[in-house]
Amino acid sequence: MRGKCILLGITGGIAAYKIAFLIRLLKKNGAEVKCIMTPASCDFISPLVVATLSGNPVGIEFWNKSDGTWNNHVEYGLWADIFVIAPLTANTMSKMSTGSCDNLLLATYLSMKGKTIVAPAMDLDMYAHPTTYRNLEQLKKDGVQIIPAESGELASGLEGEGRMAEPETILRWIENVLAENTENDFVGKNVLITAGPTYEAIDPVRFIGNHSSGKMGFALAEAFLNHGANVTLISGPTKLEIAHPQLKLIKITRAIELLEAVQLEWVKSDIGVFSAAVADYRPKEVAQEKIKKSSDVMEIELVKNPDVLKWAGENKLDAQVLIGFALETENLRENAEKKLKAKHMDIIVMNTLKDNGAGFGVDTNKISILDKRNNFKAFELKSKSEVAIDILTYLKTYSS
Ligand code: CTP
Repeated sequence: MRGKCILLGITGGIAAYKIAFLIRLLKKNGAEVKCIMTPASCDFISPLVVATLSGNPVGIEFWNKSDGTWNNHVEYGLWADIFVIAPLTANTMSKMSTGSCDNLLLATYLSMKGKTIVAPAMDLDMYAHPTTYRNLEQLKKDGVQIIPAESGELASGLEGEGRMAEPETILRWIENVLAENTENDFVGKNVLITAGPTYEAIDPVRFIGNHSSGKMGFALAEAFLNHGANVTLISGPTKLEIAHPQLKLIKITRAIELLEAVQLEWVKSDIGVFSAAVADYRPKEVAQEKIKKSSDVMEIELVKNPDVLKWAGENKLDAQVLIGFALETENLRENAEKKLKAKHMDIIVMNTLKDNGAGFGVDTNKISILDKRNNFKAFELKSKSEVAIDILTYLKTYSS
């Protein structure tokens, strides 16, 4: 944190008083702090306190009414390594999500070159309102990191979710984001990632699919992006969203479409990480109309889908590194070893549905990794974001 430039944006909520403590924590950790306040926030914490603790003048208006000097939002955006808006009120959240720009803080958000993270704070009904959910989702899509509001006693006297995260928690988030931003070890590398399930149509309303959420593949994409890589993420149907200037997101539905996209992208890639849960079979014929219920038993003839990873393995250049996954329910290592060889992978990431907290839909995973030089490493149960970092770190050692 030493020497890092932290821009703090303060908006008008009761939790603004806690920002005094956050500024002290940041300064204690060696950061340079500048603050921008919305006019409404000055009712909740005095600019005098904020300026004194941060050791810098506070930006409130676009220009200083006493001497006419201009508060340059572009310069703030260039100066800061990170923009932290805390507390984030429902009003500013809504304006950020639509690109509204009627104060210095919002203009700076739009000019920001580094990452923005926000700590929402509001009453529980406001926090639970669909509008808030929609605006937060939009901010996430725009690449803003959200520090979730916490549960507890609120200024209204009610109890519930909506309290701004504590300054110590916000500090940890800032440290994490700064740590991610400083890793540049994959700059210039092109990484191809497959993620999510494939859906194989039976008729216009039904399909064969699986429970994959895409979380592992998206976490991998985020990890590689944070380390400077250019990422092409080919994803099956999922609720997840991700946006980044160095990301190319290709959405597919069927295994055949996945193969076609991989066939175009693989040759341009240095690294391939194939985490998609591809349906192994698809209906031979797709009914043009909805199939009507008739006999007690129904048979659907299935044909094998192409093995996308195997295709990439068979068309791999020596310099390319190929990583695949194996989800097994029994004989994990033996089956994974067979897949590693059969699909010409360099590294295989194994997991089993038998481990609690691992597999589909959940936020955690428990993996072990085997490579073609016969190195093996087992990992603890971790969040999928941490698992993604473990895979990336393993790859770095493998390639060095
Ligand atoms: N894979 C793929 N295309 C397929 C099937 C699998 O690209 N048609 C990839 C997956 O993304 C994963 C790896 O192959 O990286 C292993 O997938 P898995 O489902 O565990 O193995 P399968 O080869 O399908 O074998 P099985 O289902 O018999 O275990």
